[in-house]
Amino acid sequence: MEKRFGILIVDSDEEFRKLFRGMLAGEKNYYIIGETADPRAAVEMADHRKPDAVFVEVVGLPEGMDVAAEILRRVPTTTVIITCTADACHDVRDTVREAMRIGVKDFLMKPFTVDEFRNAMRNTLGKKRVISVPDAPSSGHVVAVFATKGGVGKTTLAVNLAVALGEHTGRRVALADMDLEFGNAAALFGGQHPKASIVDLCQRPGRIDEGVISQVIERPTGYNVDLLAAPSSPEQAALVDGEGRQEQRNYVGEVLGVLRGMYPWVVVDTACNFRETNMTVLDQADTVLLLTTPDMLALRNTAACLDLLLGQLEYGEEKVKLVLNRYNSAVGITIGNINRGLNYQISFSLPSDAVTAVNAANTGIPFMKKRARNQLTERIVEIVEHLAGPQGKGNAKPAVGKARAFGLSLRR
Ligand SMILES: Nc1ncnc2c1ncn2[C@@H]1O[C@H](COP(=O)(O)OP(=O)(O)O)[C@@H](O)[C@H]1O
Ligand SMILES: [Mg+2]
Repeated sequence: MEKRFGILIVDSDEEFRKLFRGMLAGEKNYYIIGETADPRAAVEMADHRKPDAVFVEVVGLPEGMDVAAEILRRVPTTTVIITCTADACHDVRDTVREAMRIGVKDFLMKPFTVDEFRNAMRNTLGKKRVISVPDAPSSGHVVAVFATKGGVGKTTLAVNLAVALGEHTGRRVALADMDLEFGNAAALFGGQHPKASIVDLCQRPGRIDEGVISQVIERPTGYNVDLLAAPSSPEQAALVDGEGRQEQRNYVGEVLGVLRGMYPWVVVDTACNFRETNMTVLDQADTVLLLTTPDMLALRNTAACLDLLLGQLEYGEEKVKLVLNRYNSAVGITIGNINRGLNYQISFSLPSDAVTAVNAANTGIPFMKKRARNQLTERIVEIVEHLAGPQGKGNAKPAVGKARAFGLSLRR
């Protein structure tokens, strides 16, 4: 008779345990030997029942890693696999490093498919295997272009930054359009709206991986940019992060996690709100370029936004870079006034140049492609060099020092 392998599930999510049970009900080689959400009970069950494999939730179950270590100490012959949801595991590198150290054999992102389960079992049971994390974020740097107000130039900056980063580094750069309702980054490359978009990633079952992302990526000819387009109509946004999604998953987080494993640079265009998608993008970003314009309405919103990013969300000044767009000294407000008013230093200012910006949009050729030397393009090169270093090989030092505290403050 074929051997049947006993599986112990240690997971805080009852729903997931139920799903896992259901999945194994159809498997002739595997059966559930026990399940629990309780760390102490988990160790005891493993000790008494000697499962062939144990699936232990980490992060979501804070004691998970200790449970894995203790089970491996008591039952060294068992195979331990750690699991985590994409939302909980923003940065799995440390988790995986720790898991490898204690002898965990594999890592699965929840929810996983029966094929992923079988593969993990085939590759690990009774074998020495080095843990593999296909979608663990690698070193890709995520740059979010964000603002509190529409029309300040987010898409213009995101697109031209991606084009310039691609040229400067000689590597392909991902441009993810996460303005899910009105994303129009594709339009700045001319042509029709791409056939595939992020929606196609959210409508298929199973894990989002490099293969499926490659199928929906658009590659505008002549650029080192791979574009993940926004949905083609506003109502489709709900399929990605709203009521219409097929499973309660944070698709945006999953997509960004895979993208940063595929590309050295991921530039993200955003909408102006603090809903789930943007919170995910901002959290995952290494750099947030917070765009504002030199008018009181935009500046007031920006002040409130800085409070949120630096205060409640506790992002550092290294992460949040203020970019003043459409600056023109004739508007009667100086950069010094703005720095003082916001109590935060502007890192980059881009001049108002409607001829360059609007012409590029109308012709469908991002202005950074043409390399016309003007103040706008030169200022964008400054941002690129700040991010990628003058040689395009690494991160430069921050372009500005720490924000200085000034008296007059728009921030509450
Ligand atoms: N530096 C600039 N000078 C002049 N016009 C600009 C500049 N940056 C952007 N624009 C124009 O402002 C409008 C809004 O820009 P867009 O990038 O679509 O903003 P957002 O994505 O924030 O809504 C576009 O017509 C764009 O061409
Ligand atoms: Mg836009």
